[in-house]
Amino acid sequence: MDAYFVETLVHEDDALVQARQSGRSTTMPQAEVAPNQGKLLALLVQMVGATRVLEFGTLAGYSTIWLARAVGEHGHVTTFELEPENANIARENLERAGILDRVGVVVGKAAESARRLVEAGTEPYDFVFIDADKPSNPAYLEASLQLSRPGTVIVIDNVVRNGAVIDASSSDERVGGVRAVLTRIAEDDRLDATSLQTVGVKGWDGFTILRRAR
Ligand code: DHB
Ligand code: MG
Repeated sequence: MDAYFVETLVHEDDALVQARQSGRSTTMPQAEVAPNQGKLLALLVQMVGATRVLEFGTLAGYSTIWLARAVGEHGHVTTFELEPENANIARENLERAGILDRVGVVVGKAAESARRLVEAGTEPYDFVFIDADKPSNPAYLEASLQLSRPGTVIVIDNVVRNGAVIDASSSDERVGGVRAVLTRIAEDDRLDATSLQTVGVKGWDGFTILRRAR
């Protein structure tokens, strides 16, 4: 079904295809979003009218390309990547996609990179995509909120993981990171959220979408 939807509705140009393929050379092979999920991110960015986007977890820059194209030529994407080799692969892919000039690839621990942006008084972001190491999800949400404004939309990837996330007693830190961030969202009365399960080329997973109301 994903192949059919992608063929029918989601155009992947050569730059996206090459970014996907080069994802195999990163430290997290095949962790990039599916094409129809990338298109969803792009549509959400455009529906929100976002011109400033923040991404946690660049890898080869596949989702970054979707986000950067969606913000338009006057928009900007800041994307955090831990591994310098991944960041180099991403920059090549962003260049090929013709959007490197509107993307800042920031190498290092995302929590520290985010803290530097907060300290610098960075203008709030309109849209945030959290898709990096899952144990840090609560820290990334916290940072995102500090870099947000009322109306900012945040999407968190991989909140289902083959159903593993239902297990409150799981010793998997990735599961713990997802559960902790969802609890944190539920406790914050500024945030309106929902989660959806997905099935497709990436198996059984899902995402959470939230909006900061005030
Ligand atoms: C993993 C991470 C991702 O961001 C993803 O979309 C799929 C899998 C992982 O940690 O295995
Ligand atoms: Mg992911």
